[in-house]
Amino acid sequence: METVHKIADLQHIIAEAKKSGKKVGLVPTMGALHEGHLTLVRRCKEENDICVVSVFVNPTQFNNPDDLEKYPRTPEKDSELLESVGCDIVFMPSAEEVYPQQDTRVFDLGAIDKVMEGKMRPGHFNGVCQIVSKLFDYVKPHASYFGEKDFQQVAVIKEMVRILDLNLDIIQVPIVREPSGLAMSSRNMRLTEQEKQNAVAISKTLFSAKERMVEMTLSELRKWVVDTINNVESLEVEYFDIVDGDTMQEVGQWGDSEYIVGCITVYCGKVRLIDNIIFKTNNR
Ligand code: PAF
Repeated sequence: METVHKIADLQHIIAEAKKSGKKVGLVPTMGALHEGHLTLVRRCKEENDICVVSVFVNPTQFNNPDDLEKYPRTPEKDSELLESVGCDIVFMPSAEEVYPQQDTRVFDLGAIDKVMEGKMRPGHFNGVCQIVSKLFDYVKPHASYFGEKDFQQVAVIKEMVRILDLNLDIIQVPIVREPSGLAMSSRNMRLTEQEKQNAVAISKTLFSAKERMVEMTLSELRKWVVDTINNVESLEVEYFDIVDGDTMQEVGQWGDSEYIVGCITVYCGKVRLIDNIIFKTNNR
């Protein structure tokens, strides 16, 4: 595995690989890697000749400076994990390398980024598009891999790819969960043992919501999920929106779409956790 810090070096190595007809896949990450990321890397390895993983805590997607500061950074452990799953190139740039000057680009994503995470974290998805579009430009991958835990992020990136008319596949990989059901996240490191146990109620409630959807209207189910989670110590739901899986717009009834996802954000103590459940899918 090669570790690269400079864009020019990355581009040089990739250009050489492409000359010999190699297929290149990219897994963008912010580090603090866990099994969820490693699943993306394994899939990228299976489907490409060269797997590039970027590890960069992107400042432009944090609307809260405290969150940026507290974001876990574990570069040595990340490198070991990436090596163990056969990553070929890890790109770990500095902020100055990626943003030698301020990135003033504004992405017009229509309605997709005006709801849920986009509404709660103004500017977040614009920052995600800034960094992901830069990474796509450096690597020009054939495919790029994203976890479904950040469901709206995947929808945003697909929309960005459409708007910029980029030629690559966006591969959406299902959520990886702890044996308890808790969705894996770098933020889980910040939970106490007790909070971790309490947080299990999030996925447990989402799973039983899926079973109950046949017997409840959509708004009854939404209320049931919020009340059930809010009843657990140290948990507080920020939002639970039931949306169309492509447009991210709220649906009123189960029959309104063939692709329906429930997206939730819950504060567990001070840690903001996100999760989702696919209620209906058209297998896209
Ligand atoms: O999902 C993440 O970790 C980040 O938002 C991403 C896609 C790596 C961009 O910084």
